[in-house]
Amino acid sequence: MYVCICRGVTSSQIQREVSEQDGKSSVREINERLGCGKDCGRCCSSIKQIIQQSGTNSSNPA
Ligand code: FES
Repeated sequence: MYVCICRGVTSSQIQREVSEQDGKSSVREINERLGCGKDCGRCCSSIKQIIQQSGTNSSNPA
């Protein structure tokens, strides 16, 4: 699913970036690496949600 329409960045791309950084990515880091959030900025809240969900998943090995 596309999260950033302006730059064509998908949720799975963001999840992959977050998991490569052990769930410690910030929205700004994701923006820098994937280029999303740099035009209209409407995707930033969605990016934040994905980071939080991915971070929760990877930091809770159960
Ligand atoms: S939707 Fe991501 S910058 Fe516009």
